[in-house]
Amino acid sequence: MSGPVLAVDQGTSGTKALVICPERGVLGTGFAAVRPRHLPGGLVEVDPAGLYDSVVEAGTRALAQAGEPVVALGLANQGETVLAWDPATGRPLTDALVWQDRRAESVCAGLTAHADELRQLTGLPLDPYFAAPKMAWIRRHLTTEGVVTTSDAWLVHRLTGAYVTDAATAGRTQLLDLDRVEWSPRALDLYGLSGERLPRLVDAAELVGVTTAFGPEIPLTGLLVDQQAALLAQRVTAPGGAKCTYGTGAFLLAHTGDTPTRGTSGLAGCVAWRLGGRTAYCLDGQVYTAASAVRWLTDLGVIKSAADLDTVGGAVPDSGGVTFVPALAGLAAPWWRGDLRGSLTGLGLDTGPGHLVRALCEGLAAQVVALAEAAATDLGDPLDVLRVDGGLTRSALLMQTQADLLQRPVEVSALPDATALGVGALARLGAEPGLTVTEALPDWKPAAVYEPRIPADAAAERLAGFRAAVATLLDGAAV
Ligand code: G3P
Repeated sequence: MSGPVLAVDQGTSGTKALVICPERGVLGTGFAAVRPRHLPGGLVEVDPAGLYDSVVEAGTRALAQAGEPVVALGLANQGETVLAWDPATGRPLTDALVWQDRRAESVCAGLTAHADELRQLTGLPLDPYFAAPKMAWIRRHLTTEGVVTTSDAWLVHRLTGAYVTDAATAGRTQLLDLDRVEWSPRALDLYGLSGERLPRLVDAAELVGVTTAFGPEIPLTGLLVDQQAALLAQRVTAPGGAKCTYGTGAFLLAHTGDTPTRGTSGLAGCVAWRLGGRTAYCLDGQVYTAASAVRWLTDLGVIKSAADLDTVGGAVPDSGGVTFVPALAGLAAPWWRGDLRGSLTGLGLDTGPGHLVRALCEGLAAQVVALAEAAATDLGDPLDVLRVDGGLTRSALLMQTQADLLQRPVEVSALPDATALGVGALARLGAEPGLTVTEALPDWKPAAVYEPRIPADAAAERLAGFRAAVATLLDGAAV
């Protein structure tokens, strides 16, 4: 069943859709914005109807631009965003709590005695970033009716009537037994979610249903959580490789092979994907605020848009002694201190916008280095190279800073929409089971390669300054 596929990436700030033809490439694109509400106290929520509408709008636009039918649909999702809904009608019963939402701190606080057990069972540290704490919070505070799931299960139900989630998205909940790749009765019990009706776990490439949401009937044959879909599109399909996506947050994933891995240095151990019943695993580290930290600078008027990073930052030679820990929504891996706030130190009357931009780039890059170092510890070897994608990779300043601090080449994907391309490949695979993963994936070649331009001791010195600033934050808010 060869032919173009519709690939939809439902993300935090919007939904991107591509019509992808195996021979002719991208035939059509569509985008529809999503507007999460950022509320005091670390609350981030979004209207579920807006998520669904954005999927339909972006997909319809891409199809209209392509002007030809598609044989299959693939859907990537934002991972740890959760809502309650009525499975009889599909009606949402709550707003969706977005992955960045911190309100389930209280749920986590009640489980600290079981943190090690949960990490061993599920691979994940105890943190409200993951889905289960939010699910439990909704059950305690909002409603006991209907089902409570990650956003993908709701979207797929709205699209096809099926009640499923893919194994990798389930692996973002802290309810999945990482070894057995089944829902964990013990984790469910610890979260008080034992009685819940949970979605059936499916492979990343299989027929789960048919949708008419875009007009004609389209089989839904590809499902995967977004970061893992980008890992696949970047062709990181063997142990030792890694990618980082610079989106709303930045997410570094390292492939670890077909045996489950628990991070020993603060990374989450996750399912990369399950295909044909076989599970691949990865380690996953997060920077909660990347593009959202750039947006913060924009909102303050320091720059007009992300496109100004290079011109404004390029106007000065360095950060002028400013150190920025851009933990604007707390620190995730490897520190797991979501309660912390960011810091900006070393300011003077001579500090200008360029210094702030450079300090932000260094702060983001230094966090990614911390993730790469943690991955290297678990893999037993430093990463040879880091493949990168996402909107912020357009900033040569950020990418050069990343290569400088990492002291490794940074290869920028020529595929600006890696997540959609990954889930598009899965849709093809699900529609044409005779294909291999390699055949289904788009070709990969870097659009640019950034080599380190500063010596190792200079990089070490800058990283030491950043680590000292993080240590100050940690000391000042010791728990
Ligand atoms: O874990 C959340 C993350 O996957 C969201 O990605 O692209 O919406 O920032 P993005």
